[in-house]
Amino acid sequence: MDLNTRLQNVAVIGAAGKMGSGISLLLAQELGFASLENRSRTFILNLVDISDLALQGLIRYIKEQSVKTAEKQINRLRELYKDRVDLVENGEIINEFVHEVLVHIRTGKTLDLAKDSLLVFEAVFEKEELKFEVYNKLASLCPKETYFLTNTSSIPIKVITDACGIDGRVIGYHFYNPPAVQKLVELITPDTCDEELKVLSLEIAKKLGKKIVPANDIAGFIGNGHFMRDGLHAISEVKRLSKEHGYPQAIYMVDKVSRDYLLRPMGIFQLIDYVGIDVFQLILKVMNKYLTKQGLHSDLIDKYMEQGVKGGQTSSGAQKDGFLKYEKGKPVGVYNPETKEYVPVDDIFIKAVDEKLGLHPNPSLSWKNLLKDPEKDSKTQNYFTSLKEMDTLGAELARRYYNASKETSEKLVKSGVANKPEDVNSVLTLGFFHLYGPINDYLK
Ligand SMILES: NC(=O)c1ccc[n+]([C@@H]2O[C@H](COP(=O)([O-])OP(=O)(O)OC[C@H]3O[C@@H](n4cnc5c(N)ncnc54)[C@H](O)[C@@H]3O)[C@@H](O)[C@H]2O)c1
Repeated sequence: MDLNTRLQNVAVIGAAGKMGSGISLLLAQELGFASLENRSRTFILNLVDISDLALQGLIRYIKEQSVKTAEKQINRLRELYKDRVDLVENGEIINEFVHEVLVHIRTGKTLDLAKDSLLVFEAVFEKEELKFEVYNKLASLCPKETYFLTNTSSIPIKVITDACGIDGRVIGYHFYNPPAVQKLVELITPDTCDEELKVLSLEIAKKLGKKIVPANDIAGFIGNGHFMRDGLHAISEVKRLSKEHGYPQAIYMVDKVSRDYLLRPMGIFQLIDYVGIDVFQLILKVMNKYLTKQGLHSDLIDKYMEQGVKGGQTSSGAQKDGFLKYEKGKPVGVYNPETKEYVPVDDIFIKAVDEKLGLHPNPSLSWKNLLKDPEKDSKTQNYFTSLKEMDTLGAELARRYYNASKETSEKLVKSGVANKPEDVNSVLTLGFFHLYGPINDYLK
């Protein structure tokens, strides 16, 4: 069955979640355009989530975003609507397109809505039992030809297919957050995957404008395979440094080094807060279950969770407090798990930590100003060359961090999670917006 036939009945499960809503938007717009280009076909997009309120919010989000897409693609739409003499003004064309996007959508709270779908994108919570429950039900409801694309970040696909009797029909389609913007999709193809599904996955990526990086079916894949170990390295550094400097300063130091000294867009603890400490813990648990004896566990993360410090975002997208405390999205405090209080990050705090870290190798360089610099690569190389020579605490922490990240990445290749170093580098640059891939010779 070709992709266009499958697109005639598609479903998203967990449609109103962080990832599901982006995937729903991409598909809704794709089907909107497809229906304008294939007038003789009907298209249905089934959006399933357990929360009514969230589904209503999802429809509002799709509507708002479709107005923006229509504005950007007004020439394409004008061409597609050229026979519609009643549509003259841009506003009329935009309204018509938004109507076209919405008219194919059906929303519902139960999986029955997906019973005729030939292509199902799944993005429910990252909990094995829930995924099993969903897939067992879908397996009994959907036609035998239905293919499933799961957005799991860590569960081996083979575990899902074996538990639910749908061998060959599931592929890992790991979008990055937010799916409507991020270009990367990590594609996890289990050994027994149907050839047709493999081909379809590439066609879908092309249609949605995504870049595929293949990863093998090993828990955590490439993205979380690196991120979880990167986070665990940061936590072990915090524990070591906290003996001399206390937790707040140690956390601030490692966050700052991982951002400013490694020229990354975000410090590691801000990133864990963004993803959610609860999500970080969940993914670690899954990885630890399948990758035994690798120590993929953190008692500090468990402690934060026990103390109710979870990070993540509110429903309106504001950052919740976690390792760091936030005001208007900016870190203003650091959590001390010993006193269970946030310590303010004020001028006195910053000065004290900066004095301990010593001079930054090149304060004029940052992720932000290197990002669009045509000489980014040579400047980054020169930067690391000077970092190599420096004898400060900050430079030493940065070298340890760099080496840990590189070692993790090389192990991902050696252990068969990634096929080649370039794939790890692509995931980190495209999916995590790093300036450079971790497998490089900058510190040689
Ligand atoms: N958040 C990220 O940055 C990110 C990135 C890549 C992949 N992922 C993966 O995407 C998936 C979803 O993650 P998320 O962050 O969007 O989670 P989320 O909690 O934001 O969304 C999950 C959604 O699933 C819905 N849901 C729960 N049970 C359901 C059921 N039985 N039927 C239908 N809907 C149900 C919830 O109501 C919620 O809207 C997970 O597998 C996660 O690992 C997340």
